[in-house]
Amino acid sequence: MSSTLEHLFDRNVAWVDGKTRADPDFFRRMAEQQSPEYLWIGCSDSRVTANDVLGLDPGAVFVHRNIANIVHTSDLNILSVLEFAIEHLKVRHVIVCGHYGCGGVHRAMIEERGAMLDHWLQPLTMLYRKHHQHFHRMARQDERLDRLCEINIEMQVRRLAATPLVENAWRRGQELHLHGWIYGIHDGLLRDLGPHLSSVEERDALPSIDVRVLTEIEPVSGVRRHAFSAFEALLAEASCACNCPSLPTRPECPS
Ligand code: CO
Repeated sequence: MSSTLEHLFDRNVAWVDGKTRADPDFFRRMAEQQSPEYLWIGCSDSRVTANDVLGLDPGAVFVHRNIANIVHTSDLNILSVLEFAIEHLKVRHVIVCGHYGCGGVHRAMIEERGAMLDHWLQPLTMLYRKHHQHFHRMARQDERLDRLCEINIEMQVRRLAATPLVENAWRRGQELHLHGWIYGIHDGLLRDLGPHLSSVEERDALPSIDVRVLTEIEPVSGVRRHAFSAFEALLAEASCACNCPSLPTRPECPS
């Protein structure tokens, strides 16, 4: 393999060629201006690339990535991205997206210390240590890891909602929605975890993160949402004559 990485330039030319054939105006449009509607805050993991998993073209999503998608409220990098996205690009949605099996989150769970990364992960490590007993009631290590991956996302959405940048946007009436999502590397599906926050009031109404650690969250994927809506009419038809939410054949129907 060439040390000047020529194979990557070849791939770039092939990509430009494919794009231009499919859409002759693509690069002219790109050169005009970016107006993404979404800011994606994700993990640096090479398998979770925002545009690919969202099926979006360049120009549609503004991206910040770091190890374990942590929102540090003193990180000039993320704060600059956030300021530009909210105040100049006027994105309407900020998505914190983590993923199951995250190596960064795993690092926060182990005893070894001393790397720069451990400073980066410190807020998550502290939360994990605080709830060590709860996590260790789960039998399997992968179960503990996946649960901490989910909690980490909620924690970062909350930290985002506490930044003066987001608070100020809400106070001046700018439409801005925060989302917490998780991606399954094993199946390619995104899942909505919440919380969804669109105001200071919604943020302040949340229970503490310690309460959330103890409460199971059921992540909902797009596939599941489609399945619900496909069977909605059927379920409504089949519901009990007594109007209880049970199906007539189910034993939980009280009548
Ligand atoms: Co990761």
